[in-house]
Amino acid sequence: MSTFNRSKSINQRTLGVGTPRTASFGSPRVKLASVSQWFRWLFVIGALFPFSIAIAGGYFYLLPSLTQAFQGFGTSKFNDSMDECNFFDGNWVFDERYPLYNASECPFAEQGFNCVGNGRRDEDYLRWRWKPKRCDIPRFDVHDILGRLRNKRVVFVGDSMSRTQWESLICLLMTGVEDKNSVYEVNNHNITKRIRFLSVRFNSFNFTVEFFRSVFLVQHVWMPRHVPRRVRSTLKLDKLDDISNQWVNSDILIFNTGHWWVPEKLFETGCYFQVANTVRLGMPIPIAFRMALDTWASWVEKMIDTNRTHVFFRSYEPSHWSEQSHRLCNVTNLPISEVGGKDGNVFSDTILEVVKNLTVPITVLNVTSMSAFRSDAHVGKWNGNPSIPDCSHWCLPGVPDMWNEILLSYLLSQS
Ligand SMILES: *[C@@H]1O[C@H](CO)[C@@H](O)[C@H](O)[C@H]1NC(C)=O
Ligand SMILES: *[C@@H]1O[C@H](CO)[C@@H](O)[C@H](O)[C@H]1NC(C)=O
Ligand SMILES: *[C@@H]1O[C@H](CO)[C@@H](O)[C@H](O)[C@H]1NC(C)=O
Ligand SMILES: *[C@@H]1O[C@H](CO)[C@@H](O)[C@H](O)[C@H]1NC(C)=O
Ligand SMILES: *[C@@H]1O[C@H](CO)[C@@H](O)[C@H](O)[C@H]1NC(C)=O
Ligand SMILES: *[C@@H]1O[C@H](CO)[C@@H](O)[C@H](O)[C@H]1NC(C)=O
Ligand SMILES: *[C@@H]1O[C@H](CO)[C@@H](O)[C@H](O)[C@H]1NC(C)=O
Ligand SMILES: *[C@@H]1O[C@H](CO)[C@@H](O)[C@H](O)[C@H]1NC(C)=O
Repeated sequence: MSTFNRSKSINQRTLGVGTPRTASFGSPRVKLASVSQWFRWLFVIGALFPFSIAIAGGYFYLLPSLTQAFQGFGTSKFNDSMDECNFFDGNWVFDERYPLYNASECPFAEQGFNCVGNGRRDEDYLRWRWKPKRCDIPRFDVHDILGRLRNKRVVFVGDSMSRTQWESLICLLMTGVEDKNSVYEVNNHNITKRIRFLSVRFNSFNFTVEFFRSVFLVQHVWMPRHVPRRVRSTLKLDKLDDISNQWVNSDILIFNTGHWWVPEKLFETGCYFQVANTVRLGMPIPIAFRMALDTWASWVEKMIDTNRTHVFFRSYEPSHWSEQSHRLCNVTNLPISEVGGKDGNVFSDTILEVVKNLTVPITVLNVTSMSAFRSDAHVGKWNGNPSIPDCSHWCLPGVPDMWNEILLSYLLSQS
């Protein structure tokens, strides 16, 4: 459980989520020195001393601790095919029937993820299908799925990785809708990086696919009073995000978090942890992460009717940055053939432990390992801003489609 195979060539990094990596920000990026992991942890532990590293942009380390993968957990009501087949243990096979849609024809694929639209010419990366060892993921049948989603509410909660999966699901489903105008964002909002809520309604089928941006899942409060001057905001570890009441009464609810739990996103921006009325300046990130997840877990137990709602937690989505530089990456033409090495870590152990302890069933989408093969599938320089490559986010169509096909296969096994 506590080991995960990962390629040496994968330099796990965090996302520039909501930061101007792909936006047209002109600010020069400060290249971080290669601080070793242990130093980094010393920093975290010694968080009483404010960080002096100025971070101008979205270049952040990922604590490799978050890179572990998880296996799905069986549920009782939902006939979980996990019993017979581990969806996440398999390999990528070439399949000419892919891709399943054209991002240029899907109004909900954001420009930054439309690699073909942004000039990517090699096409093999569009044609890989994930093949679990002991079974097949049911072939995507859009009309069947549209029918099953009728009158339902699908809710994604998390960071930009959740937004990508949200976009992918909408694009997949739109291929089965004749009248494209019958699919619309309910508030007429455009997709932006910082928007907190997006809901796309499939009017003919009376269902919505929604996205809530909540990068920490717990409450983020600006300008708390009576705190040391360096504290500009706090994360209330014992309170779930204030928009969380809108996540209940959904039928399918998919969470992720992790990429923002790094010093660069927290302490270095003046964000510290808070429990009840006390700011905990020295609290290490892993402890805080655990508290936040415990808060999430009790919220799920208290607020979610799991007879109605199937809850998923998606594991960490790996990135493929260059070993040499923290701002360079070359997207490959082919997936890498092997992910090796071991990476024990505290954060993913935490997620697993917390999920296992829940009294209600949660399915963990263990996408880490399957995605780690796909060094060919990141947006790279085809993100609309070639000078700032991005090897965290994925092209659409692409890898997030396969996460959705797995998600939908749980839906199929329900009935
Ligand atoms: C996630 O899936 C990979 C690939 O099958 C596997 O090696 C790993 O052990 C899984 N993680 C967990 C925590 O089950
Ligand atoms: C669950 O799936 C198995 C194997 O596909 C099947 O034999 C069984 O009848 C299913 N159980 C229910 C309750 O649907
Ligand atoms: C995708 O759609 C665009 C816009 O309609 C079109 O120009 C392009 O040829 C399509 N690509 C493929 C591979 O069909
Ligand atoms: C649409 O779905 C909602 C549940 O999400 C349901 O209450 C309502 O009756 C449905 N409307 C129609 C016209 O079927
Ligand atoms: C959304 O984007 C379109 C095209 O870029 C623009 O015309 C429209 O005004 C935008 N809508 C909103 C609500 O910002
Ligand atoms: C969920 O279903 C079970 C079995 O059908 C039932 O005993 C339980 O009361 C239900 N829970 C809720 C919250 O409705
Ligand atoms: C990426 O490819 C270019 C051109 O082949 C090469 O000059 C550059 O060093 C490569 N960068 C990395 C990070 O591998
Ligand atoms: C899980 O439950 C066991 C026994 O109730 C407890 O000792 C342990 O601390 C719990 N772990 C988590 C992560 O809540």
